[in-house]
Amino acid sequence: MDVLVAAGGAAWEPDVLRTAETDPALTLLRRCVDVADLLVAADGRPGAVALVDQDLPGLDADVVWRLQQDGVHVVAVEAEPERVAPLGIARVVARHEVSRLGDDLLLEPPPGRPSADGRVVAVWGPVGAPGRSTVALGLAAELAAAGTSTAVVDADPFGGTLAQSLGVLDEVSGLLAAARASNAGEPDAVARHAVTVADRMVLLTGLPRADMWPHVRAGAYELVLAQCRALAELTVVDAGFCLEDGASFDRGGPRRHQLTRLSLEAADEVVVVAAADPVGLSRLVRAVAELGEVVPGARLRLVVNGARPSLGWSQDEVARTLERLTGLLPDHVLPYDRTALDTALMHGATLRERASGSPLTVALGTLARDVRHALLDQPVGA
Ligand SMILES: Nc1ncnc2c1ncn2[C@@H]1O[C@H](COP(=O)(O)OP(=O)(O)OP(=O)(O)O)[C@@H](O)[C@H]1O
Ligand SMILES: [Mg+2]
Repeated sequence: MDVLVAAGGAAWEPDVLRTAETDPALTLLRRCVDVADLLVAADGRPGAVALVDQDLPGLDADVVWRLQQDGVHVVAVEAEPERVAPLGIARVVARHEVSRLGDDLLLEPPPGRPSADGRVVAVWGPVGAPGRSTVALGLAAELAAAGTSTAVVDADPFGGTLAQSLGVLDEVSGLLAAARASNAGEPDAVARHAVTVADRMVLLTGLPRADMWPHVRAGAYELVLAQCRALAELTVVDAGFCLEDGASFDRGGPRRHQLTRLSLEAADEVVVVAAADPVGLSRLVRAVAELGEVVPGARLRLVVNGARPSLGWSQDEVARTLERLTGLLPDHVLPYDRTALDTALMHGATLRERASGSPLTVALGTLARDVRHALLDQPVGA
């Protein structure tokens, strides 16, 4: 078994180095001087074990996530489980147990995040403002009103809008604050930084500016979503639109669209929102193909938004056009309803609070009922 040691001068280091050098079952790849050294050494070493100290400077949830992305098992030596678990480290050993690690790790499930029962719905859709945020907020409000505890996460990497829609004057972005806190290992980061916006409904407000996205590190965001699952029965994520990988020379560095991709990967269901007009539908066709490459096998729910008589299309015609182009039928067609949205917006309220009987609110209620039924009333994957 290949071993990397990053002890940061901890008292256990000499003993563990001696074991790694003398035990024939272990191969010491590198004694790393710091986190940066560890990340470089772990690159291209899937299956290796990183033995780390809980006080190693710079060791945070994102570092653990990046090591695990490289296929490296992260094990903390002589650590307190409750301190390292929130960083994503599930395994703690005493110094004399290091030589027994090999067999144990093979029996262990692959590294992953703590799981809880809550489900995640990502609301996504192609470029052109088809109504992702409107649908995300409306869906969440209807879910909460129907008795489901709901969290809404504004995770659009181009900047959030949900706080403004609800008139929430949050001085700090909930997403930024929760990501920072979970990166530092705070297990209740989301609960502390989400604001209650209705009965059973909390909001993690989004990025204040489009250039703030690098502050939400991938590993931290995964933990934020994991915490949401523990906090709410259903989490609705406004996921933005762009799916480009954006791989740069620094492959471990942050990428703008990673937030969107992580939301989609984490989601139990992806609600795909398309505008009801010819441009929106043709974008949807491309979007569904692109989505299939990023999250193959994802469970999709197609929502055509903003249907109106002036387009001259019946719901049936929209459905048949879509089926011809994508092989998929829309699950929901939401009506154009400017009046209801303006009323809600000008009151900083949800549609449900200010326009409860409006056509759009009623249609969102049906969407919420079906999402709830698919994700909570029957086992996921059924
Ligand atoms: N069903 C609808 N009827 C009327 N107007 C709508 C409807 N859905 C959305 N809109 C309006 O369209 C505009 C864009 O909607 P929204 O902000 O939800 O889109 P988005 O996809 O999140 O866009 P962005 O790319 O800016 O994040 C808003 O002004 C919204 O009020
Ligand atoms: Mg939006």
